[in-house]
Amino acid sequence: MRKENDRIMLERVESQMRNYIDELSNRDISKLFEKLPHGKRLRAKLVLKIAGMNEEAVRLAAIIEMIHAASLLHDDVIDDAMMRRGVASLNATEGSKQAVMMGDILYSKGFEELTSFNPLIASRVASAVTQLSIGEMSDVWLSKKFHSDENAYMQMVYQKTAALIEATAAAAAMLAGKEEHIYALYGRNLGVAFQIVDDILDITQSSERLGKPSMHDFEEGKTTLPYIYLYELLDEEGRARLKTLHGKKLDYEAREWIRTMMVETGAVQKAFMYAKELGDEAVALMRGVGENSLADIAAAMIERDF
Ligand code: IPE
Ligand code: IPE
Ligand code: MG
Ligand code: MG
Ligand code: MG
Repeated sequence: MRKENDRIMLERVESQMRNYIDELSNRDISKLFEKLPHGKRLRAKLVLKIAGMNEEAVRLAAIIEMIHAASLLHDDVIDDAMMRRGVASLNATEGSKQAVMMGDILYSKGFEELTSFNPLIASRVASAVTQLSIGEMSDVWLSKKFHSDENAYMQMVYQKTAALIEATAAAAAMLAGKEEHIYALYGRNLGVAFQIVDDILDITQSSERLGKPSMHDFEEGKTTLPYIYLYELLDEEGRARLKTLHGKKLDYEAREWIRTMMVETGAVQKAFMYAKELGDEAVALMRGVGENSLADIAAAMIERDF
């Protein structure tokens, strides 16, 4: 019954998003939006679980999922990614110009609708999107050359991914009159762990399973946490080989070598343990306040395989 309820509420979020887009009175935009596949709806689920099943929560969830979708449209242009959510990305089918502008439309409609909320809620979400954009910019800058700077990676991941999840949880808590701080911390830990797991899955899973390109991060120049640890754990010869592969298209042999070394050196396991610790903290925070379904969401996100 609870599952059924969750499904109905998520459907309301979907139709709220459609309504927002239809309000723009442009059939081509509505059609383009309809073509976008749905994701896991993590951020919408967080809002509904924290703020409860009510009209305002549905609107906030829809706005945040629109903002998130916008960030992915831009991200795929930035990352030259031709697949998203199991199908060809919008930049692949319609070109980058339409993907960028569809992203802008989703962002700005989302911000417009945010203004109907308490200004503290609106600014919490809006400033997280500034952080997300700075994080995406840092990701681009960091990928220009090979690096093994764990602190720089952590800061970038917090900004590009965790800031919005943190703000989502905090904004939903404000809406419900709950203790904002504890939910923000939950969102922050979950967000960083979520991105580290995403970076691990890029290496360990197939494109089919992920619904987006796999082994693509390093080709794009991204030295994610498993690569930073791999570099630390390899010998001189291995390090030199890894550096020569950075930022280039990987052939079959290179992919197999990276995958084998990631497991043999324990680099992937070490990155996973880092994510697991943060995930466990998020779980414990929510168990502490009796929010068991939020604890379960964090646990499932760490254990996910796509
Ligand atoms: C993808 O986010 C971008 C990252 C933060 C890793 P999600 O994995 O939540 O994407 P969807 O919405 O489920 O497709
Ligand atoms: C997260 O980074 C993107 C955003 C926060 C917008 P990624 O580039 O790793 O996300 P995926 O793997 O393409 O979903
Ligand atoms: Mg990407
Ligand atoms: Mg990216
Ligand atoms: Mg990724």
